[in-house]
Amino acid sequence: MIYLKTAEEIEKMRAAGDLTARTLGEVARWVKPGITTRKLDAIAREFVLDNGGRPSCLGYQGFPGTLCIEVNEVVVHGFPSDYVLEDGDIVGTDLVVELDGYNGDSCYTFPVGEVDEAVMKLLTTTKESLYKGIAAACAGKRVGDISNAVQTYCERRGYSVVREMCGHGIGKSMHESPEVPNFGRRGIGPVLRDGMCIAVEPMINMGSKNITIGNDGWTCRTRDRKPSAHFEHTICISGDEPIILTSFEYIKEAMGDRFV
Ligand code: MF3
Ligand code: CO
Repeated sequence: MIYLKTAEEIEKMRAAGDLTARTLGEVARWVKPGITTRKLDAIAREFVLDNGGRPSCLGYQGFPGTLCIEVNEVVVHGFPSDYVLEDGDIVGTDLVVELDGYNGDSCYTFPVGEVDEAVMKLLTTTKESLYKGIAAACAGKRVGDISNAVQTYCERRGYSVVREMCGHGIGKSMHESPEVPNFGRRGIGPVLRDGMCIAVEPMINMGSKNITIGNDGWTCRTRDRKPSAHFEHTICISGDEPIILTSFEYIKEAMGDRFV
């Protein structure tokens, strides 16, 4: 069952998305060599709570963080820990915030200090693929049009697309129908309609597409341990121009000329 949001619900989705975005903007101020991922998690949690939100991942099926932490070869669902970020790392911070009964979901993968040029290219390509996917998300088109746009963009540039994890519908629950894969054929899957809210989230690997799940039951890594990048926006379908509910503008402001 795919829920189409009413105008009032879309306003609530906007507010939840904006708090999600502002929280990642706050996290962005702190990402640098020497900080632990646990500290980033605490900063996010406090910011969400101070602004009347609820960290949706914290406690979800036992997940121990506000943020999912994705260092280097971690694809998704890493735990905050005492790991100290090092110069040259990349770190994804994936955040879901509930505000007034509705959820926003967003992820940004940050470079830590000076990052290898090839890895920077993985980051910029993955972020660009997110916007290619969003550009395909027009009312009347299908989920497969988003999937295909992401896949084509990344594979043409020599990267691979994780198969096991997908984007998703979002609203009162952080995961709703439909699934939004990052690979697939154009013209297949559910039709996109005005008022549908979905999270588009390419997870893109430098090496092969294969993944492993750690002993903790959560931490998803690339099997070849090469880097993986992850960017995510929550969007609302609206004619030919989807509304991005989780702007990266706050991150841009925080990063200044380090934003690429
Ligand atoms: N943004 C992640 C997703 O779309 C959120 C996972 S929260 C967790 O699946 F609790 F499952 F880790
Ligand atoms: Co998501």
